[in-house]
Amino acid sequence: MANHREIPAQVRFPTATELDAEVPGQVITEIADLYTDLDALNLQPLWTQNARLLSKVPRPSALPWLWRHGDLRRMAERSKDLITISRGGDRRVLALANPGLGGKPFATPTLWAAIQYLGGGESAPGHRHSPAAIRFVLEGSGTITTVDGDACEMRSGDLILTPPWQFHDHANESGSPMIWFDGLDLPIVSHLDAIFFELFPGADMQPVRGRNISEGIYGGRATVPRVEGSATGPSSPLLVYRYEDTGKSLAALLAHSAGPMVSLEYINPVTGAGVLPTIGCYAHRIAARRPTVPRREVGSSVFVVYRGSGKSIIDGVEFAWGEGDVFVVPSWACVEHHANVESDLFSITDQPVIKALGLYREDFEAAQKVVGVFEGGNDV
Ligand SMILES: [Fe+2]
Repeated sequence: MANHREIPAQVRFPTATELDAEVPGQVITEIADLYTDLDALNLQPLWTQNARLLSKVPRPSALPWLWRHGDLRRMAERSKDLITISRGGDRRVLALANPGLGGKPFATPTLWAAIQYLGGGESAPGHRHSPAAIRFVLEGSGTITTVDGDACEMRSGDLILTPPWQFHDHANESGSPMIWFDGLDLPIVSHLDAIFFELFPGADMQPVRGRNISEGIYGGRATVPRVEGSATGPSSPLLVYRYEDTGKSLAALLAHSAGPMVSLEYINPVTGAGVLPTIGCYAHRIAARRPTVPRREVGSSVFVVYRGSGKSIIDGVEFAWGEGDVFVVPSWACVEHHANVESDLFSITDQPVIKALGLYREDFEAAQKVVGVFEGGNDV
């Protein structure tokens, strides 16, 4: 007769030890005692959990997910009315919390993604932190992000960098709200126990040295200036990447490409490396009604729909998207994009970290079978 006696439930860690029919009851009791005693000593056996720890392929905790622009905008406006600057709204930021991450305010295990809303005439005081940040402007103009004294003008579709440990503040000089996407490596830096933060000393806003200084020196041309100190540091000295430039490049690329999607990586103009050591930034243009090849890659991404409409199939589930929507592609998820009209997507990814650690892989697959349609993120 088969032996169905189980390891007692008070043993906290997984108890998946295979017991054949001949194992005497006394041995089962001794194994259970072993597990209990190991637990008391904060020791855990590998043999009960190695299949979970060493899966054949990545099993990301983050879920493919999508947040709709209408929800993001409406909630930001409600926050604006209720959470004034004096009530803590100096950083009026709504973090996209992936439901797979147990309530953490992170979009993926490595990326923070958020919507920031700054009303007309409002300002967000200066501070700096060890996590790196990027801003991608979704709506409005007239806000200045000042980074170490360089007042960078923000316009729709622009990418603005705030590299680690550089003082930055935001001032909306217009009478209308500005909305932008925030991407940070906060989860990575937090996991590494390397968070540092401080307010700008003595005043809300830092002194301004000039407007668009980095853009004047490094921007918009295929030359590298010979400026003292320009080759230093792992982050790009260029702080602003204009949509006007990326849009032109995407148009030229797509016009001369046989593929359905073209992509640009935003880079450090001095070194040719990515803009930040931990966050990769990309702009994509997808041709209308020409699906992309299904693809998997190690590393997670967050996509922002800047222009157009369409859908992405992620691990067999269809995610319809439109302008201002934000969606997550977890590590090793199979993804393909279908645009109804020519569409521009901006994305951030943890790929610089994945590649630096020698962990990068990609794979291509045949067209996916659609097994479901994403219905989360409905209006509340
Ligand atoms: Fe910040």
